[in-house]
Amino acid sequence: MLRRGVVAGNIHSGKICYDHLDGTVKKVPSTLSPVLAVDRKAAQPLHRQIYDGFRSLIVGRNLGAGQQVPSSRALAAELKISRIPVLTAYAQLLAEGYFEAHTGSGTFVCRSLPDHVEWKDRRSACVTAIHSGARPISRLAAELPPYQPAPWLRGLGAFNVGQAAFDQIPFQIWTRLVTRHCRNLQASALRYGGPLGFQPLREAISTYLRTARAVHCDSHQVMIVTGSQQALEISTRVLLDPGNLAWIEEPGYWLTRHALNAAGCRLAPVPVDEEGLDVSAGIKRWGNAKAVFVAPSHQFPLGATMSASRRLQLLEWAHHAGAWIIEDDYDSEYRYDSMPIASLQGLDSNARVIYIGTFSKTLFPSLRLGYVVMPPDLVDRFAAVRRAMDIAPPHFFQAVLTDFMNEGHFARHIRRMRQLYGQRRTALVENLSEKLGDSIEIVGAEAGMYLTILLSSGIRDQDVAERAARERLWVQPLSPTYLGDAVRHGLVLGFASTSVDEVPKAVGHLKSVMNEGQRALSVQRKTTIGPVR
Ligand SMILES: Cc1ncc(COP(=O)(O)O)c(C=O)c1O
Repeated sequence: MLRRGVVAGNIHSGKICYDHLDGTVKKVPSTLSPVLAVDRKAAQPLHRQIYDGFRSLIVGRNLGAGQQVPSSRALAAELKISRIPVLTAYAQLLAEGYFEAHTGSGTFVCRSLPDHVEWKDRRSACVTAIHSGARPISRLAAELPPYQPAPWLRGLGAFNVGQAAFDQIPFQIWTRLVTRHCRNLQASALRYGGPLGFQPLREAISTYLRTARAVHCDSHQVMIVTGSQQALEISTRVLLDPGNLAWIEEPGYWLTRHALNAAGCRLAPVPVDEEGLDVSAGIKRWGNAKAVFVAPSHQFPLGATMSASRRLQLLEWAHHAGAWIIEDDYDSEYRYDSMPIASLQGLDSNARVIYIGTFSKTLFPSLRLGYVVMPPDLVDRFAAVRRAMDIAPPHFFQAVLTDFMNEGHFARHIRRMRQLYGQRRTALVENLSEKLGDSIEIVGAEAGMYLTILLSSGIRDQDVAERAARERLWVQPLSPTYLGDAVRHGLVLGFASTSVDEVPKAVGHLKSVMNEGQRALSVQRKTTIGPVR
C-alpha cells in the first residue's frame, strides 16, 4: 500500500494522488448491497421485514447461491436502523438454512436451499415479462441476422482466419507499457476525451500511414475508432442516408453488409475477379450509387489486389458521379511476393476516399483499435457523428499503443511478422499443392494472413467447414460471403497462427475431412440416383 501523500509517478500536478488508500478512511464493505427496504412505521417488525426481504431475493434468485451478503453492521448502517433487528433476521436465516456463516470471511447465501423451498426459475420469470404487451422494435433491427457464431468462428488454432500469431506479440514490452501508464495515471486520462481520439496516437498513426501506406494525411484527419467495424459504421452514417445505394464486393466481407443494412442502405453487389472489383460491371449496373466499399489491397475473401487501371477507373467514376469510396485496408501490412502496394487513398487527387485501417491484424482483435482517415472537409462531420454515437474512444490503450508505436516496437513487430507469415504461407501453399493439388485451386496467397482454396464442383463448402470445425480445424466457407447465389464454393484458410511445423499435419487432417465429405457425397448421389442396372 502507498504511504500517505505518495503520488504515483510524483511531482506532476495533474497526476492522481493515492491519499485515499492511506488507511485513515473507514473501511468500506466490499459486498454489493441488495435491494432491501424497511418501513419503520409498518406493523411488521423490522427483523421480519429484513428476513422476508432476503428470503424472497434468494428464492427469486436475485441473490445467487454462495454470494456474500453484507455484514450485519454494514446493512444496519445502510438501512439506518439499529443492528439488533438485522442480527435477529440473520440468525433466523442462518437457522433455516438460507444463509451460511464462514468464520473469518463473512455470511453467504447457502449453496443449497432448505428442503421445502424451491428456486424460482429465473428464465421463466424473464420470459413471462418479455411476452407481456406489444414490444415493437425497429424494422432495421428486426432484419439484421441474429448473432450466432458459425461453428468455424468458435475456436482458436489451425487455419483460423482472424487469428494473428498471438504468441509472437511482444507482451513483455506491452505489459511494461501498460504498467507505465497505470503508474503514471494522470487526471487528464480519466476525463472525457475528444471524439477524434488521443492526439499523440493520431500523430503516430499519420506518420505510419504516410510512410508505409502512402496515405495523404495529416494527424487532424485521423480519427481513432474501435476497429474497422466502427469505422464502417461511422462512415456510413456520415456519408449515406437510408435507401442510398452502395456498391459492395461480391463475394465480400459480410460485416460491411451488416453495417450498411443497419443504416438502411441498399446493397449493390459488384463482382470481383483476379483484378479486384469489376468497376465496369458496377458502373453499368449501379451507376447511380452513392458509395463504394472496397478492399483494394487484399480483397476478402478472394485475396485479389486491385489493378492500377481499375483503381484509376474507380477514382475517375467516383469523381464524376459524386460518389464516396470507403477503402478497407485491413491487412495490407503483409505482402510477400511483390513490393508493398500504395493505398487507393494515396492515388486520389479529389479527396473522395475514406481510408480505414485496424490493429486487429497487426496486434490483436480484442484491442478494438482502428482508424479512419477522413477528407479534410469532412472531419467536422465525422467528429459530430462520432460524438453522438459513443462520445470518444476509451483512453487507456490508446496511450499504451502510442508508446508502442513511437518507441519502434510496432514497426519491428510488423517486420518480424511479415517474415514469419511469409514462411507459414509458403509452407501452406506447398502442402496444399502436394496433398490436395488436383482437387483445389489456390487464390489470394500473395498478401495478408489467409488464402482461399476453390473446391471442385459438387463439394459443399459449409459441410466441409462444419465437419472441419468438429475436428478443430477453423476453415471458413466461401459461399456465405456471397450476397447472392455462390458462384464458387471454397475454403478460406488462415495461415498466420499455424507454425511451419504444424502445417503438414493440419493439411493432412483437412484432406481427410474433405475425403470424408467426398465419400458422403458419392453415397448420397448413389442413393438419390438409385442403382444403375
Ligand atoms: C475485410 C475485413 N475488414 C476488416 C476486418 C477487421 O475488423 P475489425 O477492425 O473491426 O476487427 C476484417 C477482419 O477479419 C476483415 O476481414
